Amino acid sequence: MPLDRPLSLVTGASAGIGAAFARALAARGHDLVLVARRADRLHALAIQLRAAHGTAVHVRPLDLADPSAPQRLCAALAAEGLAVDWLVNNAGYGVPGTFEASAWEVHAAFLQVLLTAPTELAWRLLPGMRARGYGRIVNVASLAGHVPGSAGHTLYAASKAYLIKFSQSLALENRAHGVHVCALCPGFTWSEFHDVTGTRALVGKLPRFLWQRAETVVDEGVAAVERGQIVHVTGRANRAIKALAKLIPDRLGLWLSARQSRRYRQLD
Ligand SMILES: NC(=O)c1ccc[n+]([C@@H]2O[C@H](COP(=O)([O-])OP(=O)(O)OC[C@H]3O[C@@H](n4cnc5c(N)ncnc54)[C@H](OP(=O)(O)O)[C@@H]3O)[C@@H](O)[C@H]2O)c1
Repeated sequence: MPLDRPLSLVTGASAGIGAAFARALAARGHDLVLVARRADRLHALAIQLRAAHGTAVHVRPLDLADPSAPQRLCAALAAEGLAVDWLVNNAGYGVPGTFEASAWEVHAAFLQVLLTAPTELAWRLLPGMRARGYGRIVNVASLAGHVPGSAGHTLYAASKAYLIKFSQSLALENRAHGVHVCALCPGFTWSEFHDVTGTRALVGKLPRFLWQRAETVVDEGVAAVERGQIVHVTGRANRAIKALAKLIPDRLGLWLSARQSRRYRQLD
């Protein structure tokens, strides 16, 4: 690593995969900017990481559904002379139910958090990375972006497929400038995700071998972006599912997706 203490910005650092990224990067000697809405969680994590690793932690409580949040965050960091070397676009959630069951405002906020905020953060932070000849961008996508869309959680797979394609283009444009971009694609991961979406009971019926720990996902993600891998699906079972989804005809894929949707998705 070319820098003594890289500065990593992690969104969604108050829980799950984002908190695990913060812990893993602090252990690797990074300083941190932590972003999420729950300030108390971010401050508690910051105290732990300062004590454990001597990490400089900048806590930035923000709602990424606010369209002005990425610009305000980047302007504040620049004003403090903080240059971001690693961007982990991780904040996310799901909206259960069918498309018409939620108000437009719910979908608009989802698109802002899952698509626009990560895209804008990359756009704002990339020039500094390129100028310094070093940068890492991890876009936390999902296995859902590789398999056919489901009924219910209508925008989720679409948003993750976008992140995968966006990461591929960004990686190709920037790899000659020392900036690695990786779409990290976990499958089912132990975190607060399914509690927030209210689907814990439904996904609790899935076999245990499909589940990964957030720490495992993060270890794979850090290794993948470091070696310059552009898309990384975590875990053997998830890689097998992705490979199968590519092999089978679309009609069979959609039939399977409809069957799984009835079992594991909230459809009202
Ligand atoms: N868990 C899985 O099975 C799974 C599988 C594949 C991909 N993923 C992806 O992994 C990422 C992390 O999810 P997770 O599993 O770690 O879920 P999680 O435990 O629920 O954590 C989600 C994080 O996103 C933050 N967040 C949500 N809305 C936000 C907003 N409006 N503004 C700022 N921060 C916001 C939350 O913080 P606050 O509530 O404090 O704002 C929290 O820190 C997501 O992008 C998710 O789609 C998860």
